Amino acid sequence: MSIAPSQKNSGKFALAKRIAAAVVGLGVVGGAGFLAYAWYPSIAPISRPAASFFSPEAVKRGELVAAAGYCAECHTRTDGHKGPEMAGDFQMETPFGNIYSSNITPDPETGIGNWSEAAFKRAMNLGIARDGTQLYPAFPFDHFTKVSDQDVSDLYAYLMSRPAVHLQPRDNTVPFPVNIRIIGQAAWKLLFFSPGRYKNDPNHDAQWNRGAYLAEGDAHCGACHTPRNAMGAEKLSHAYDGNVIDGWIAPPLNDHNPTPVVWTEDELFQYLRFGVAPLHGSAAGPMSPIPHSFLSKLPESDVRAIAHYYADVDHAEQRQGQNTAAIATAMERSKKNLVGPQTDDADARLYQAACAACHYNSAPGPVLGRPELALNNALWLDEPNNLFMVMLHGIGAKEGQDQIAMPSFYAGLTDADMARIAAYLRRTRTNLPPWTDLEKKAAQMRATLKTPPINASH
Ligand code: HEC
Ligand code: HEC
Ligand code: HEC
Repeated sequence: MSIAPSQKNSGKFALAKRIAAAVVGLGVVGGAGFLAYAWYPSIAPISRPAASFFSPEAVKRGELVAAAGYCAECHTRTDGHKGPEMAGDFQMETPFGNIYSSNITPDPETGIGNWSEAAFKRAMNLGIARDGTQLYPAFPFDHFTKVSDQDVSDLYAYLMSRPAVHLQPRDNTVPFPVNIRIIGQAAWKLLFFSPGRYKNDPNHDAQWNRGAYLAEGDAHCGACHTPRNAMGAEKLSHAYDGNVIDGWIAPPLNDHNPTPVVWTEDELFQYLRFGVAPLHGSAAGPMSPIPHSFLSKLPESDVRAIAHYYADVDHAEQRQGQNTAAIATAMERSKKNLVGPQTDDADARLYQAACAACHYNSAPGPVLGRPELALNNALWLDEPNNLFMVMLHGIGAKEGQDQIAMPSFYAGLTDADMARIAAYLRRTRTNLPPWTDLEKKAAQMRATLKTPPINASH
């Protein structure tokens, strides 16, 4: 991601300061003091409350809090076979080993059935399990700490009144010494974690604050869209500069976003609500479930508030004047490069044969459902990851725009073919420098797919 040099430095200084503070802190309090800081008591188990104990209104509100936090996305197994919802065992591959999410159904033995509300609240606020174990930040408690007490209480009511599933998740593969949680995780928190509920910013209106509350807390957009340091913590001085997740690039959400059309509040709203924005394209890959399975359950005003917040983060109002010219340039680039099968340009012929039938429109402007590639971020990011991922995976009917699909080219195109199409599109649809090592990168992206996609075409 392109990062201004001044920002890079301030980031380093900020981090250096916190490390220094932590080292000093450790020196002063010493080993015993540190353990006292890191140690949390177990909170007494309770017998599982009956579902009727919770008010239906609280359960209903809690369901929305769960939707905005994608709990089911990380707490439902997907590898090998699909597991029962919320019963955990979802595999997260981290640079430190595999971590399997916990069962958060109200099963007393394998789930959170014997957790009191106070124990649940401590987990959300501080990342500490009922028995006092320090939890890994793969559980995004660094965001959930911002969720209000009322929302946490409703969320507890919702989770505890769901069906209990008896399922013990697999053991983590985090190696020694990183697996000594009381030292590793507590030190991590000292360096990188600021606990505390979201506080309204009086310089902004209620809608902005609602958007910021959801985005920074429950919806944890930064968990994917903010780069992380070597310790796996978000670099807050580079907030929303973009990051790589499961091979995909989660693009910058600030004014480093490279798409020619600025993400306005309305484009953001369409994308977050329906999974497709007319002037940008579709939500594919890890972004796809966020609109479809989660944000679409929220009241429209909440999705609008998140859009309102990010339109401010990327300074859309100041920059959107460029949009009309950007659309005209994109349409011109695409039209100019429409070629017949007789062309001498072999790359253009390949694109024509594989892609152009769908990615062409004769209308004067972009058409929903036929993403205008000259405007799509897959061509404008620093690396071709997303373009390759879209070619390899395709886009299912339930992803991106509803009911509309793009076939997978996993079997139909070789790495060399994909490399040529990527080079061609970058050369003809953008004015950016060419990508390098394309064939190698195509092979790397192919290797991230453990099994060929179901709809792979030939
Ligand atoms: C990005 C993935 C992710 C998301 C999203 C997520 N979790 Fe988790 N969660 C995890 C992982 C991984 C663990 C296990 C951490 C560990 O072992 O230290 C976990 C652990 C927990 C625990 C501790 C359980 C125990 O037995 O120790 C609770 C409670 C929890 N999550 C609740 C939630 C709730 C509620 C939501 C939605 C608001 C949620 N999680 C969303 C990944 C996630
Ligand atoms: C699990 C990781 C993940 C989370 C959480 C996540 N995103 Fe994304 N996001 C991605 C990925 C990956 C892409 C690229 C998808 C594509 O190109 O189709 C993306 C794309 C986007 C885009 C399109 C950017 C562009 O220039 O094309 C926007 C806007 C966006 N996300 C906003 C959000 C917001 C707002 C949230 C929180 C409500 C959020 N995302 C949460 C992973 C995530
Ligand atoms: C059969 C029609 C069809 C073909 C052939 C096709 N596409 Fe697509 N493509 C689509 C549709 C439809 C979408 C939008 C899907 C959605 O939103 O659900 C799409 C979306 C995309 C996107 C946008 C993804 C995003 O995250 O916004 C890219 C990039 C893309 N296609 C590239 C290609 C390339 C490169 C080729 C040739 C190798 C190709 N497509 C061939 C129909 C097609």
